[in-house]
Amino acid sequence: MAVRLERGSAEGGVDGDLEGRMQSHSPAETQALGARLAQRLQRGDVVAFTGDLGTGKTCMIQGLCAALGVTDPVNSPTFVLINQYEGQLPAGAAAADAAVTIHHFDLYRLSGAAELFDLGAEEIMGGDGLSLIEWADRGAGALPLPRWEVALAHAGDGRRDIRWQYRSAGERGAAATGQARGTSRKRQEAEPGEMPT
Ligand SMILES: Nc1ncnc2c1ncn2[C@@H]1O[C@H](COP(=O)(O)OP(=O)(O)OP(=O)(O)O)[C@@H](O)[C@H]1O
Ligand SMILES: [Mg+2]
Repeated sequence: MAVRLERGSAEGGVDGDLEGRMQSHSPAETQALGARLAQRLQRGDVVAFTGDLGTGKTCMIQGLCAALGVTDPVNSPTFVLINQYEGQLPAGAAAADAAVTIHHFDLYRLSGAAELFDLGAEEIMGGDGLSLIEWADRGAGALPLPRWEVALAHAGDGRRDIRWQYRSAGERGAAATGQARGTSRKRQEAEPGEMPT
């Protein structure tokens, strides 16, 4: 079952899926899913990607960034842990100025929560840019809610099973996130519905 996401009318009334699953048959399909997710993003969003080596986390982020107008090359920032790109929020997002900084994390080599703190990740993820995080499970306890979660898995030759969901701050309680952002979001959960194919 999938649940539909409805943005508040103040943000343009754009509908989308809050939770879903697909089987991708090619890198192009995975990139296209990234582009679809990009249309849902709002300033300050955090997207946590999990999945084994080579499942397509970077591939999906490349599609997502392309849809946001990023022209710089998008690659796994394995050694620097964070790359930054300049992009544009999707049409319909509530923003006088659509320019947005995209922070692309790769936590594969993260040594621990202390390193995440040293990177200034808390400020970045709590800021008004977009945070896209590969190997998010390595920093799981330190990632804020609400956040998007995307889980990719190998599913045979050239195929990937990809699931995504939007986890609201309410799941852990606004106080536990240490931020008030969750309560100011314009997102509202609507009645469960079918995910568009
Ligand atoms: N359906 C598919 N979706 C995405 N990538 C695919 C698919 N089929 C094959 N591939 C290949 O799998 C690889 C995915 O690489 P990518 O760097 O995106 O993975 P990753 O999850 O970011 O890995 P890492 O954990 O090393 O950062 C690419 O070489 C891509 O061509
Ligand atoms: Mg990668």
